[in-house]
Amino acid sequence: MQILTIATRPYNDQKPGTSGLRKRVPAFQQPHYLANFVQSIFDTIDAAPGATLALGGDGRYYNRDAIQVILKMAAANGFGRVLVGQGGILSTPAASCVIRKYRTHGGIILSASHNPGGPDGDFGIKYNGSNGGPATETVTEAIFAASKRIVHYRIIDAPDVPLDMPDEYKMGDMVVSVIDPVSDYAELMESLFDFGAIRALLSGGFRIKFDAMHAVTGPYARDILVNRLGAPADSVMNAVPLPDFGNGHPDPNLTYAHELVDILYGKSAPDFGAASDGDGDRNMILGKHFFVTPSDSLAIIAANAHLVPGYKQGLAGIARSMPTSAAADRVAKVLGIPSYETPTGWKFFGNLMDAGKVTLCGEESFGTGSDHVREKDGLWAVLFWLNILAVRKQPVETIVSEHWARFGRNFYSRHDYEGVQVEAANGVMKLLKDSFTSLQGAQFGHLQVKLCDDFSYTDPIDCSVSTGQGIRILFVDGSRIVFRLSGTGTEGATLRIYLESFEPDTSKHHLDAQEALATLIGIALQISELRKRTGRDKPTVIT
Ligand code: G1P
Ligand code: ZN
Repeated sequence: MQILTIATRPYNDQKPGTSGLRKRVPAFQQPHYLANFVQSIFDTIDAAPGATLALGGDGRYYNRDAIQVILKMAAANGFGRVLVGQGGILSTPAASCVIRKYRTHGGIILSASHNPGGPDGDFGIKYNGSNGGPATETVTEAIFAASKRIVHYRIIDAPDVPLDMPDEYKMGDMVVSVIDPVSDYAELMESLFDFGAIRALLSGGFRIKFDAMHAVTGPYARDILVNRLGAPADSVMNAVPLPDFGNGHPDPNLTYAHELVDILYGKSAPDFGAASDGDGDRNMILGKHFFVTPSDSLAIIAANAHLVPGYKQGLAGIARSMPTSAAADRVAKVLGIPSYETPTGWKFFGNLMDAGKVTLCGEESFGTGSDHVREKDGLWAVLFWLNILAVRKQPVETIVSEHWARFGRNFYSRHDYEGVQVEAANGVMKLLKDSFTSLQGAQFGHLQVKLCDDFSYTDPIDCSVSTGQGIRILFVDGSRIVFRLSGTGTEGATLRIYLESFEPDTSKHHLDAQEALATLIGIALQISELRKRTGRDKPTVIT
């Protein structure tokens, strides 16, 4: 088969964001757009001839077309084998699992995570290295640089490979192995959790509902929760991955997973509810009429890890992204293990996990995971909770309130203003930065500002420095407000405000978070002039 060298010109907008390159589908459909980026990856990662690559995606619109292009380019760029998920499917954590298990050179994941899909929806591509984790910033910067000087890419002239059954095919000199996307991942889960105990819980009248949101986790949840753990088939809803996610927004939060939320807050609600996102790395945990914030979930998982077989030997440390609440830090302190605060994005956890410094990681954005892979992992978090519930035999709400009683409660909320005009959002951020001096020491009612800064992080392993990672307003009593611009959106700007305060007094733990944070919310709106500058009078999403 013939290797073609195709002349091309750079696009100048192929800078990876928080998690890979994300654009609208029509942007990816521009001539050579996808190929340019893929060649930039191959030119950067410098794989040895004959190397193996993992490949799969969340099944969204354009997934199958992109897989065929990438296979042909991998063959033309000297790869010896590509492990591709059947139907082009691999959830993000499953891709990480496959990269690690088969020791591939790395992997390409096609996903725009929780962003809507379809012909006018979003598409995305990212590269994960041989540790199974998202490429570090150094690598993504190098890919971006390569994309700006690209003059040609290599692709072979070959027919498409059928993807619908596990099988092997030759493409030029390269082997394409179409693999079952679920089994390696499911086996890993069985090695970590007490499936016997969870099976007993589920057969004893404990009812669960998992919402796959028409996205990638459907087949995984069916295999694990229904086939392996014996949950009734209707425990998994929206289980068939659709290219447009059923026109939904596959983001597991109280706003977008409302179908599940209505069930868990309705009459005869199940005991446990959970949802995952487009590519399977996020999770939302619900009890009967009860929502567990992702920050609390991380802390509770850490505090109960000794009950779970894969973690009973102890945790090396816990890492959380900066905007995530400090609830996990309190657990780390009691356990006598280190805690780390990193910038937003899973890629910052990889070095810490590779160095054996942390076992658990989490983000307030419904991301929780451990060193079993190098991505956050939605179903893993669900199984962790089920394992805890199987051992403790208490309702979700009781487990959470007992946790607060022991460690105190970190009231926490995130307010998102989506699709804001870019200039308005930048204006808010600039105003805040310009106000650092006047805010320092300022008094707002009983709250006094202790420090404001733009968060920067020095990686303790490779000493790389990441600046501009979010504006922090820290108060003397430990409360804080964080402002950040999203790095994953594709339309306008998304401004995120993160709010946190600590409450040791058990008699106040039942309060609603918005009530408890009302003063901070008021301060945030006042100092940012957000309403005036963006024309918005309320957030798009509150979590
Ligand atoms: C968002 C989340 C962040 C997460 C990322 C990828 O990024 O806030 O925690 O790692 O999605 O799932 P953002 O849009 O805020 O840049
Ligand atoms: Zn995701």
